[in-house]
Amino acid sequence: MEKSVPNIVIFASGSGSNAENIIKWAQNRKTYRVAAVLCNRKDAFVLTRAERLGVPHYTFTASEFRSNTLVYKGESRKLTDVLHELGTDFIILAGFLLKVPEYLIAEWPERILNIHPALLPSFGGKGMYGDHVHQAVIAAGEKESGITIHIVDNQYDHGKTIYQVRCTVTPEDTPETLFAKVHELERAYPEVIEGYISQL
Ligand code: GAR
Repeated sequence: MEKSVPNIVIFASGSGSNAENIIKWAQNRKTYRVAAVLCNRKDAFVLTRAERLGVPHYTFTASEFRSNTLVYKGESRKLTDVLHELGTDFIILAGFLLKVPEYLIAEWPERILNIHPALLPSFGGKGMYGDHVHQAVIAAGEKESGITIHIVDNQYDHGKTIYQVRCTVTPEDTPETLFAKVHELERAYPEVIEGYISQL
C-alpha cells in the first residue's frame, strides 16, 4: 500500500513556474502530494500547467475567496470545507496575489508558506509583486536582492522567514535581468517546502 504523505494545495495567480516546479518535485520525490491548484484568474497560465501535469485545478473570484466560497464541481461550497475534503495539510502560495484572509490562517496556522522575490522585510507589502519588486530594488540602488520564503501571517509579506538567499544587483541590471537571477533562486522552493514539512 502506498505510504500516505502530506497533501499540499497550491494557490497561484499567474504564470505558474513555481507551481510547476513544485508539482514536478512532488511527482518525482513523493515526499508530499499536490492535491490541487487554486487560482483567482480564469486565464492564468498556471491552470494550463496544472492540466498538463494532471493536477486538479479550481478557480475562485477575489470576493468568493474573501467570503470563504468556492464553486467546486458545479456546486457553491465553503472553501475551507473543500480544502479539508482534499486533505489539505499545507497551503503553498506560488505567485498568489490576494491577501490571505484570517479564516484560512486560523485554520492552517504555521501551515501556509509564501515565496517573495526580494529580501524581506525590504520590498514587501501590498502592490509589491512580480516586476514591481525588481523595479523598486533597482530604483533604490540596492547592491543585493534575492528571495524570501516565509510563513504567512495576517500581514502582507510579514510572517517568520524560513529561507532566504541572495544575488548581486549590478548597475547594468534591468528589471528583466534581475527577474532572471531571482527566478533561478526560486528553484529552491520545492526543496524548502519539503524541509519545512518534514520537521513539523
Ligand atoms: C514569483 O517571482 C514569485 O516570487 C512572485 O511572483 C512570481 C510568480 O511567478 N511572488 C510575489 O511577488 C508575491 N508577493 P510564477 O507564477 O511563474 O510562479
